[in-house]
Amino acid sequence: MFQLALVTLLVTAAAALGAELFVFRQVKSLVQATRRLAAGDLTARSGLPYGRDELGQLGRSFDDMATALQERQAQAERAEEDLHRSVEELQEADEERRRLLAYLTRAQEQERSRIASDIHDDSIQAITALGIRLEMMKRALSDPGQLRVLDELEGSVVHSVARLRHLLFHLRPPVLDREGLAPAIRMYLDEVLRDSPITYGVENRFESTPGPETRTILYRITQEALNNVRKHARAHHVDVLLEESHGGFLVRIEDDGQGFRLDSASGPVPGHLGLTAMRERAELAGGWWRGSSVLGQGTRIEYWLPPEGGRALVQDVAG
Ligand SMILES: Nc1ncnc2c1ncn2[C@@H]1O[C@H](COP(=O)(O)OP(=O)(O)O)[C@@H](O)[C@H]1O
Ligand SMILES: [Mg+2]
Repeated sequence: MFQLALVTLLVTAAAALGAELFVFRQVKSLVQATRRLAAGDLTARSGLPYGRDELGQLGRSFDDMATALQERQAQAERAEEDLHRSVEELQEADEERRRLLAYLTRAQEQERSRIASDIHDDSIQAITALGIRLEMMKRALSDPGQLRVLDELEGSVVHSVARLRHLLFHLRPPVLDREGLAPAIRMYLDEVLRDSPITYGVENRFESTPGPETRTILYRITQEALNNVRKHARAHHVDVLLEESHGGFLVRIEDDGQGFRLDSASGPVPGHLGLTAMRERAELAGGWWRGSSVLGQGTRIEYWLPPEGGRALVQDVAG
């Protein structure tokens, strides 16, 4: 009797121990899976049989959560790849746009030069020759009526040459290549502010001479900024400062006019591209451009170009 009781007790104890060991192993497996998951291994699963008991349910919940996490991760990776691709496409498109802009800018400059030299070598020469002929005819005539007609004609010839020279100046001022940037800017100011009350100062602190391409870009941006002063600023005075800085060329154009809201975040106003064009030109050349304006106090445009044209995006247009 006593022996039977002892055996029963031993068997019960062994069964209880076995069950506890089983539970212990399951909990251990769950803990290990949790650790793997926490370390970033989203393939970790509990490995527990999905029974109705608490551990089984816990195992299922854990595995469901790990699966959901894995899917999320995959989605996030796909989204990131898409984003990368879009950014690359945008960068390519932007690079293409820059290339095109650089090409157009250079083509425009070359076309201007070509027309300017045609006007100089052809049209002006032809009209000047006409003037000399008229002069000779005048000497051969004595009739006052005819002389008056010739005088009028001669006046028209002089006027035409003056207008062509004016056009020539706007296309590409010869002084820019002959004497440099500061004299060209002074001449431009003389020309555009001739009938305006705005006074100006040009301070040239350049110690070296910018190369032809840089010089042209410097001139064009300054021209646009000064044109804005003339058209919009209602200023009394404008100052242009040319200075060397960080191995490149810095230009500052400052007026004391009415100022305006210069909001770089809002982008260009349709039909008004001057400010954007200035920035684009400077950035295309590897430099920077910035403007600041205070209502009632004036506007300051500042830009910097590296010494030699910066990034060479296009070769010669003809090439
Ligand atoms: N120096 C300035 N003073 C006052 N307003 C200015 C000045 N420069 C530009 N603006 C304002 O910024 C606007 C945009 O200039 P811009 O892009 O050059 O185009 P646009 O000259 O064709 O109007 C101008 O219409 C004007 O209102
Ligand atoms: Mg403008």
